[in-house]
Amino acid sequence: MERVLITGASRGIGLELARQYLERGDVVLATARNLNRDAAADLTALAAQHGERCHLLPLEVTDDSAIEAMAAQAATLVDGLDLLINNAGVFPRHERPETLDSHALLATLHVNAVAPLMVVAALLPLLRRGQRPRIVNISSQLGSLTRRASGRCYGYCSSKAALNMLTRSLAFDLKEDGIIAVVVHPGWVQTDMGGSHAPVLVGESARGLVALADGLTLEQTSRFLTWDGREHPW
Ligand SMILES: NC(=O)c1ccc[n+]([C@@H]2O[C@H](COP(=O)([O-])OP(=O)(O)OC[C@H]3O[C@@H](n4cnc5c(N)ncnc54)[C@H](OP(=O)(O)O)[C@@H]3O)[C@@H](O)[C@H]2O)c1
Repeated sequence: MERVLITGASRGIGLELARQYLERGDVVLATARNLNRDAAADLTALAAQHGERCHLLPLEVTDDSAIEAMAAQAATLVDGLDLLINNAGVFPRHERPETLDSHALLATLHVNAVAPLMVVAALLPLLRRGQRPRIVNISSQLGSLTRRASGRCYGYCSSKAALNMLTRSLAFDLKEDGIIAVVVHPGWVQTDMGGSHAPVLVGESARGLVALADGLTLEQTSRFLTWDGREHPW
């Protein structure tokens, strides 16, 4: 039985990951920025089905005091954390060079790149007490510098590239503690973010991510991987 914490579990990939871990008997700490019934209806229904194995924690990932409060609450629920999945993310559309806004760019960098690192920092004491502790930061193929061959996507692409670098640095710092940290492209997935034309179903992506997280070894730490277990070019 794993103890898994997932950010951004109100919908999309985060919600499906929470469902799959609960269905196989793991303990899930699912965070969402708004836990009221309308905003997180599917997550609250899932929690109701799984009783004591599912804990809902409020977390706006850009709020440092909320991160601290979430980590303190998590420590009252579990003795250690085996897997942290930093999944919460945003994808602003329609960016053009003429209309770029520094506040909007920084807001995207905060959610997608800085916040995952702050969440890791707050949860380190629990991760250090985990069994085979792993950090899976959900990145994107759009964060790959070598694959980039088109414009736009300034905030999202740069934030995921930053997440990749932050995770790589982190992986080297945490290796001596036996904590594995990787970035993973989850596929182009049918969610609100991915849209209805995406080729990968959310269940399929989450199944791949669960299998990948199960099999991670310390030798793989610092790598950029795909949801179906391949290396991703940086
Ligand atoms: N779908 C794809 O094709 C695709 C491809 C590559 C990478 N990804 C990555 O996969 C992850 C999940 O994407 P998805 O497709 O499931 O997206 P989604 O359906 O749009 O869900 C995004 C999740 O992130 C949460 N979130 C956003 N900003 C937040 C904040 N400031 N604080 C706390 N939670 C916040 C949302 O909460 P609310 O419900 O409160 O808004 C929601 O739970 C993201 O990191 C995304 O970049 C997705």
